[in-house]
Amino acid sequence: MARGMFITLEGGEGSGKTTQAALVAEALRAAGRRVMVTHEPGGTRAGEAIRAIFLDPALKLEVAAELLLALADRAQHVRERLQPALATGEIVISDRYCDSTVAYQGYGRGFDLKLLADLNRLASDGLRPDLTFVLDCSAEIGLARSRARRAAAAADRFEGERLEFHRRVRDGFLALARDEPDRVMVIDATAPRAAVTARIVAAITARMAS
Ligand code: TYD
Repeated sequence: MARGMFITLEGGEGSGKTTQAALVAEALRAAGRRVMVTHEPGGTRAGEAIRAIFLDPALKLEVAAELLLALADRAQHVRERLQPALATGEIVISDRYCDSTVAYQGYGRGFDLKLLADLNRLASDGLRPDLTFVLDCSAEIGLARSRARRAAAAADRFEGERLEFHRRVRDGFLALARDEPDRVMVIDATAPRAAVTARIVAAITARMAS
């Protein structure tokens, strides 16, 4: 059976990835496709345990520990869920993947990008997305959206970071899109929700046809 298609959604806080993952999956299923939606960090039992540590604002994690947790989560996710689903021919949509490590730990925390490329290759077993959508908006808009959604709950470790950090993360995603234009497509995350879904579905459909 042909390998399924691997799609990732990326972007900063409050960019609407999670909502779009569900809407895109719904549209593709309505067109008769088999689709699995998953996310990082998390997506497996071990991954959800890692995620709880990764996001806990009460924990003062060293940046190297943070990086290695993201990679450990990915190593588990790729082998336990992504590869098996793709092997059955499913379309897999992951809410975050390797590019988040480049944007957050590379551009945000300052880790060497070459080192991250090597570590991502190890963690991902060389599995690369066919298509990646960066849902892009300013750091100010994204943070305001994610804080509104969270209401009274405490910000996680990343939402608590300064605006400057989130600006660097955004620059990182935009740099990735410039470096790999055939894979990474930037979508205006401030466009109406249905328009964002339609653009993503159209790009996936076009890629499947080609
Ligand atoms: P999550 O609640 O999933 O946020 P969002 O809805 O914004 O995706 O939290 C995931 C957080 O983890 C997010 O702030 C980005 C961060 N992250 C990294 O720093 N590195 C990574 O490799 C991944 C996958 C996520």
